[in-house]
Amino acid sequence: MSSEPPERRLTSFAAVLAQRWSRRDFLATAAGSGLLAGAAFAPASTRADDPETSTTRHGAAPSLPRLAPSRRDAFELAPGYRHDLIASWGDPLWPGDRGLDAATLRRGGLLEPGAAAAQARRFGTNCDGIAFFPLGEPNSRRGLLCVNHEYVNLELCFTGLPRDARERVLARPDWIRRNPDAVAWMQAAHGVSVLQVERDRRGRWRHIAGSRHARRITATTSCDLQGPARGHALLRTRAEPTGTRALGTFANCAGGRTPWGTYLTSEENIDDYFGGASSWLASATTADDLATRAAHARFPLPERSAYGWEHADPRFDLRQEPREALRCGWIVEIDPYEPSRPPRKRTALGRFSHEGANTLLAHDGRVAAYMGDDDPFEYVYKFVTRDRFEPRDPAANRDLLDAGTLYVARFDADGRGTWLPLVYDEQGPLNAAAGFRDQGEVLIKCRAAADLLGATPMDRPEDIEPSPVSGRIYIACTNNGARHHESRHDTWTNRRIDLGADAANPRPLNDFGHIIELLEADDDAAATQFHWNVFLLAGNPGAAGSRLLTDRGELVAGRLERTDTYYAGYADASQLSPFACPDNLAIDPQGRLWIVTDGNPNLVAHNGCFVVPTDGPDRGLLRQIASGPTGSELAGCEFTPDGRTLFLSIQHPGEGGTIDNPVSDWPDGHGLPARSGLVALTREDGAPL
Ligand code: FEO
Ligand code: CA
Ligand code: CA
Repeated sequence: MSSEPPERRLTSFAAVLAQRWSRRDFLATAAGSGLLAGAAFAPASTRADDPETSTTRHGAAPSLPRLAPSRRDAFELAPGYRHDLIASWGDPLWPGDRGLDAATLRRGGLLEPGAAAAQARRFGTNCDGIAFFPLGEPNSRRGLLCVNHEYVNLELCFTGLPRDARERVLARPDWIRRNPDAVAWMQAAHGVSVLQVERDRRGRWRHIAGSRHARRITATTSCDLQGPARGHALLRTRAEPTGTRALGTFANCAGGRTPWGTYLTSEENIDDYFGGASSWLASATTADDLATRAAHARFPLPERSAYGWEHADPRFDLRQEPREALRCGWIVEIDPYEPSRPPRKRTALGRFSHEGANTLLAHDGRVAAYMGDDDPFEYVYKFVTRDRFEPRDPAANRDLLDAGTLYVARFDADGRGTWLPLVYDEQGPLNAAAGFRDQGEVLIKCRAAADLLGATPMDRPEDIEPSPVSGRIYIACTNNGARHHESRHDTWTNRRIDLGADAANPRPLNDFGHIIELLEADDDAAATQFHWNVFLLAGNPGAAGSRLLTDRGELVAGRLERTDTYYAGYADASQLSPFACPDNLAIDPQGRLWIVTDGNPNLVAHNGCFVVPTDGPDRGLLRQIASGPTGSELAGCEFTPDGRTLFLSIQHPGEGGTIDNPVSDWPDGHGLPARSGLVALTREDGAPL
C-alpha cells in the first residue's frame, strides 16, 4: 500500500492525464490537419508544421486587451483583469506569529535579537519562481504554492544604507563587519516558502496560514546531496567531510514541477555569496587545492561577495572552506506534500547558474527537464531520466532524477540542432586527460565539459518552457550586451570564446533579448536532435528608427541592428506591445506563451507581464497584460491547471530607492516601505485568462 498522501495521488494522476491527454488531443488534431506529417527533419523554413507558413497573419482584429506601458508605482492590469495579494515579505506562515511591520523596519529592527528566527517563520524576501500543487479536486481551487526567495536588497531591509548598498558591501565591507547579525537574518530570508492557498466562493485567492504543509526552507536548512556527485571528493568540506549533506539553498531563481508532484528550485547566482577567492588561490598549492581550483575555473568566485556573508559565516569564506561553493549551483527537489522530507540537490542535472527546470514526458514515459544557465555566453541543457515515470507507483519516482543523461545544446546555422551528452568516458572527449575522472566531476565542472563538446554560447538563457499543448519548447534569452557584430575572440569566464553574433543569437549588443522556439525530432522529448527558429526579437517595433521584420529569412547574424524586432512574423506594429528582456515563461491551456520581463525599463517603462499566441493567425501578436510597481521585476508566472489563475511574484519593488528614501510603497501604500509580494491574477468574469 502506498504511503503517499492522498492529495498527491490525485494530483499526480490528474497531472499526468492532463499532460498526456492534451498532447494526444493536439497530436490527433495536428495529424488530421497534416500539421505534423513528415515534419521531423525537413528544413525549418519549409516544414509542414511551421506555424509561420500556415496562415496570413496581420491585420486580424485582436481579441486580447492591452495595457499601455506604464511608469506608475502600482500593479496595473489590462481591462477585464483583477488581482489578489496573497502574501508579502514578512507575512507569517503560521497563525499566532506576528508579521513584519513598518515600524520595525524603520527603526532598523532586523538587527535586533530574534529577528532571524522570526524571519525563518515568515514569507521571505524577493519572491521569484512559483509552482502550484493542487490539493484534491477540483484541482484549481485549493493548493500549495512553492515560492522562491532569491536574494535581498540590503538597502530595502536595513536603514542607513545607500541605494548602491550591494556595491558598497563589495567595495568596503565595514557595515557587514559591524553588523554580523545581518548575515543570519539574510540567510533566514532566502530559500523557499511552501504555503497553502484557496480560492473562495467570490473567486478571490487567499493564504491559509498554518496548513500542515506550511514550511520555510532557508539558507541553513539541511539538504541531501544526491546523484552521481554525492560523496565526491570535490564536495567534501571540513565541516561536512562526507560530501552527502549541504546546508541550505539560496539564490533560488525560477523553478519547475515534476510529473510526480514535486518542486524543482534552481540555485542561480551563488557566486554572489562567497568571498576570499583570490587570497585562497594565492595559497592553493596541494594537489587537492589544484583540483578544487580547476573545479571553480568556469564558475569563478570573487574576492569579496555581494552580501558579505564570508565575514560572519566561515563556510562562505573560501580560505576556510574552498569546496563549499561546489555544493551550491544545483537543482533542488522539494516535496511540498511531505514537509518532513529534506530537500534533495540533484547533481545528475549539472552544476551551473541554474535559472529553472521544466519537465516534459518523452514518448516512452521517461522525463526530460529543460534548463538554462543564466550567464552571458552560457548554455542550454536538457536532462533525460534513465527510467520511466510510473504514474501508479509514486515511490518509484522519488529518486528518478538521480539517474539519466545530461545534454547540452548545439544550435546549427541551418535550423537544426543536437543534444550533446555530458557523459564521462575514457574513450570519449570527457576523460581523465581532459580533467574528468568520473561522472561526478563532469557534473561538478559541467560548463567546462560543455565547452569541450562544442555547445553554443547563448545570450543568457533564462526560463525554458515546454508547451504541453504543442510540444514546442520556448527559450528566453534575456539579453547580452557583450555580443558583437563581428566574430571576435576573447577570454570570457576563463575560456577563449567567439563573441560574434551567430544564427541562434543573431543580434549584436543584444540589450532587449530574444526567444527561441525548439521542436524535438519526432516530437519526442528524449530525442537527441531538434529543429529551432527565432520566435521573437524583443524591442519596440513602433519606435522611430526601429524595424519590425516579418520574414524569418531576414534574421541573419551580421545584418541585424540593435533595435530590429521580430514578432514571429506578425506584421502590424500598431497592435504590438513593446517589451524587453524576457525572463520567466508559462504556457496556458490554450498553448499561448506568457512572458514576464526583467529589464523592460531599459526600453520603455516598468517591467510587465505579456502574452503571445504561438499558433494561428495571431501567432506573434504580443500584448501587455500587467505592469509592475516602481523598481520591480515580475517573476514566477505559474497557472492553475484550469488556466483561470496566473500566480506572479512582484520582486524588488522600490529598487532604486532605500528604506529612508523610498521610490515605491507597494503594496501597502501610505508611504510605507515597499515589500516584495505574491499575487494571483484572474479575469473579472472568472473565465480562463
Ligand atoms: Fe534570477 Fe536569471 O534571473
Ligand atoms: Ca529569472
Ligand atoms: Ca531575473
